[in-house]
Amino acid sequence: MAAPRLALLALLAATACAVSPVDDLLWWQTSVIYQIYPRSFKDSDGDGVGDIKGITSKLWYVKNLGVGAIWLSPIYKSPMVDMGYDISDFYDIDPLFGTMDDFKELLEEAHNMDLKVVMDFVVSYTSDQVPWFNKSVHREDGFDDWYVWARGERNESAEHGYNYPSNWLSAFNGPGWEWNDVRQEFYFHSFTKEQPDLNYRSQGVIDEMDRVLKFWFDLGVDGFRVDAVPQMAEDACFRNEEPAGNDLPPYDYEYLTHKYTQHQPETYATIKHWRELTDQYDNPPRVLMLETYGPIDEVVDYYGTTEHPGGHFPFNFYFITELKNTSSAQDLDRIVHKWMDNIKAIDWPNWVLGNHDQRRVATRFGPQLADAMNMLSLLLPGTAITFMGEELAMEDHLGITWEETQDPWAINAGPDEYMVYSRDPERTPFQWDNTVSAGFSTNPKTWLPVNPNYEWLNAENQLHLRITHVLVYQNLVRLRQLDAFRRGSLTTAVVGDVFAFSRVYGDEAYVVAINLGGTKETVDLSALSPLPNLVVSVSSINSFAQYATFPADAVVLQPYGALALRSYDTTS
Ligand code: NOJ
Ligand code: MG
Repeated sequence: MAAPRLALLALLAATACAVSPVDDLLWWQTSVIYQIYPRSFKDSDGDGVGDIKGITSKLWYVKNLGVGAIWLSPIYKSPMVDMGYDISDFYDIDPLFGTMDDFKELLEEAHNMDLKVVMDFVVSYTSDQVPWFNKSVHREDGFDDWYVWARGERNESAEHGYNYPSNWLSAFNGPGWEWNDVRQEFYFHSFTKEQPDLNYRSQGVIDEMDRVLKFWFDLGVDGFRVDAVPQMAEDACFRNEEPAGNDLPPYDYEYLTHKYTQHQPETYATIKHWRELTDQYDNPPRVLMLETYGPIDEVVDYYGTTEHPGGHFPFNFYFITELKNTSSAQDLDRIVHKWMDNIKAIDWPNWVLGNHDQRRVATRFGPQLADAMNMLSLLLPGTAITFMGEELAMEDHLGITWEETQDPWAINAGPDEYMVYSRDPERTPFQWDNTVSAGFSTNPKTWLPVNPNYEWLNAENQLHLRITHVLVYQNLVRLRQLDAFRRGSLTTAVVGDVFAFSRVYGDEAYVVAINLGGTKETVDLSALSPLPNLVVSVSSINSFAQYATFPADAVVLQPYGALALRSYDTTS
């Protein structure tokens, strides 16, 4: 789906190309999907950990943002080695978060407010505490092949008498193989050793995960974010992976390429199979969105084909993995086109700015670009996914000590290096107000410390002041309901430090402009604007430009300012 790109200051009229041929847009196409990290959203019982009742009590806030759906990171039964991504019962809720009744209540209240609820579907691995693993360890009938079991060559001098089956690494660093004394074999784990990988060549596994999907769909869940999709299957011959040719230490996951442990054919096939199953639930329609880091060709293949669709969309993570605070307007243009020009006409685009695994936007790009980044994700074509707190431009808490550290990846790295890997800084409690624990909990001690900037950076402040990030966010969410943003064409342009794009549908035309530079710029955006003037609909808080009007050939952008402007004609 190539989007036109205008040459610098070109005066050519933009060729309008409809973004999607879909006429009846579905809820997941028009909604913003808001990610809630349950441990850190709202604690209702004072134990210092967020929970389901806490989420239910704050649905008004989510609704008030204008978003249409929430996605909850895992709340299933878990020993919490990897913060709930290690599930020991796929059919139940962990007591830390509440009960099944609490969840049903959340679902009902959300639906009453016309909010959809998406859950996490953790498919690549289980906790080692799930009964299936023990059965597989003991080769119980039907469970023998549920995990990735193997032994390398016999080697008397090796610790367990055998070499590792391959050189594969864990994404949390170090060997991906762990010895099991009972079974006298190694099992593969893509992440912690307490998360053995499921074997997607086992029909038993596929049948069980089908049951999990159906269980939650039958309960009324509106969709899933499928976790760690690339790592679902591994090469059946355990071929060694090649070094990537970088300077990283050999135990670092990125030291190796991942030809044999990621994006395997069985993974694509299983995703297509789950799509078929998901499509059987059409009232309301459900969504499958996929966690898919990787090279563009492999990632867009998860959309599947017209005959055999895959996920509704694989997450577009390139704003996270390929942009940083020094990126130029050209870089931004390249990244937008990287997605738009590589997907098919029927594929629905999406934009992810952050999540619980990545540094927050205001930390990655600087708070001065927080509104600009939200503007991009919310006004480019497709679904926008917002990690909780990004509407407030929350920042990472980089002062977390080794003693306070919770993230297993950081713990694995040890006290000297933990901050290189730690994802705790972006997982700290949501900042509701300036009372005890930022209004997150009545308990002054929370599972991760609250960012000390909560005294001024909090939701209550921003909802009551006049020019704040959250108000910009709300205005953007409102604006994206227009047809220009839902269905309009996309044309991009780069003018110096400014990245700009138009969204046009019939008579409705908007231009969005973002200044990535630190100096004020006056730019000619007339090639993007069908009419001679532009009036500001939404302005970043550092632009001071609400309702300002400009001739389209002289739009003034403040340093790091971002504007969404409507194209109009003074004479009409
Ligand atoms: C992906 C999740 O997003 C991340 O938080 C987790 O650590 C890994 N899966 C491994 O479980
Ligand atoms: Mg609690």
